[in-house]
Amino acid sequence: MNRLFYLYKLKIDLFIFYMMDKKFNLFAIIGSASRNSANQKLVDAFVSLTKDVFDVTIFSDLKTLPHFDPELSSENPPEVISDFRNSIVNADGLLICTPEYVFSIPSGLKNAIEWCIATTVFSDKPTGLITASAHGAKGHEELKLIMKTVMANFNDDTTLLIHGIKGKINEMGEITDINTKNDFVKFIEEFITLVKNSNSI
Ligand SMILES: Cc1cc2nc3c(=O)[nH]c(=O)nc-3n(C[C@H](O)[C@H](O)[C@H](O)COP(=O)(O)O)c2cc1C
Repeated sequence: MNRLFYLYKLKIDLFIFYMMDKKFNLFAIIGSASRNSANQKLVDAFVSLTKDVFDVTIFSDLKTLPHFDPELSSENPPEVISDFRNSIVNADGLLICTPEYVFSIPSGLKNAIEWCIATTVFSDKPTGLITASAHGAKGHEELKLIMKTVMANFNDDTTLLIHGIKGKINEMGEITDINTKNDFVKFIEEFITLVKNSNSI
């Protein structure tokens, strides 16, 4: 761990120390269809930095979900879809970390969300939205619109757009760009606050 990263980890640890009295369950969906995914690395960094706050279940298998079927969705959803929905329902918070594909969100992520449209699994769910991509602006706007439509609970501070992600994270999963690192830390702090406040009632 390099020195700067250590300082940022320390900052988050201190923040956690003042904020925490219990651990929260988080369900994290990775939108990438690739194996060597920068978004996976970002989520791994998130898990490492927040290990005292969140127990994170990572879902990186979007391409194994069947294609959306509206008839099955309400009447007889496949078991894998029921499991996916239940993972969201049972989580204290939801994190979506995704690239942009062809100026949109990846089809696998859209497909998974479509399977949930007949439900209220996203309603009021404290949510963090990260788009980490080459550009990503259009996909990020789309993701926010979709998650607003399904009534997920997020705000500007629990969304993060990272341009040029491949040049800002190394093979070890360390964020090498100082501004991105600052933004990531701020995002984590705000997301912890949202999850904590939403689950304290
Ligand atoms: C099918 C496909 C379409 C893509 N389209 C876009 C795009 O529209 N905008 C963009 O910023 N990046 C696009 N990219 C590049 C990805 O943003 C980039 O590869 C990113 O690192 C992928 O994230 P990952 O490493 O987590 O898979 C595309 C990549 C693929 C595979």
